Amino acid sequence: MKYKDYIGVFDSGVGGINVLKELIRVLPNENYIYYGDSLHAPYGNKTKQEIIKYSLNIVNDLVKNGVKAIVIACNTATSAAASEIRKQYPKIPIIGIEPAIKPAVIENPRKKILVLATKATIEFEKFHTLRNSLNAQNRVIPVICEGLAEAIENNKDPKDLLKKYLLPYKNKISIVVLGCTHYPFVKKEIKSILGNVRFYDGAYGTALNLKRQLSNKNLLNISNQKGVILFESSNHTKSLYKQFLIQ
Ligand code: DGL
Repeated sequence: MKYKDYIGVFDSGVGGINVLKELIRVLPNENYIYYGDSLHAPYGNKTKQEIIKYSLNIVNDLVKNGVKAIVIACNTATSAAASEIRKQYPKIPIIGIEPAIKPAVIENPRKKILVLATKATIEFEKFHTLRNSLNAQNRVIPVICEGLAEAIENNKDPKDLLKKYLLPYKNKISIVVLGCTHYPFVKKEIKSILGNVRFYDGAYGTALNLKRQLSNKNLLNISNQKGVILFESSNHTKSLYKQFLIQ
């Protein structure tokens, strides 16, 4: 049980580090094991069944090793696999990140909102259910950013892709939901195309949700020492992830 009482956090690659940062800020005394499935990234252009298979492989391993909770630090894996993971592990808190469309819609009445995400996140049912429940079909504009997570994952210049997807909205949009956990790494580049936009992402909400669920189950770490953070990956070196954490 090498991860007994740790919180297991996973993504298709480096994106979930943006979520891990927020988890550590909100719950600094917890121990975290971060798993990046870089070997199978990107998830965003895969089928639901494939994403479920990769996600369950990771979760099975983390649970076998003793984690007390799982954070799906990937919008794509949450929309494809969260309900299946919860079905398999009904006793373990499973917290998934979702695009922060709700706060963006509520805090910006009447404004148009751009939601940047992977093909899977935008095409699967969850996105449409959420958008319909907010009655915001007309002002929530989804943009599938195919290839963007992959470019970020592989440290490639995202400029051309961003221009292709975002130039039509230049100076027309002031609110952007980052619906993929890789995208916060390119906020500066997005602003350089769209102008001075306000960003929303689900990381803080996910951290609060984790805190609430751990607290409800009496699983919060009561030690007042800083927790341990470990990294695992299906191919990248672990030090690479660490480097993203301090960016
Ligand atoms: N970081 C993931 C997300 O939040 C997905 C990126 C990918 O693998 O396509 O959606």
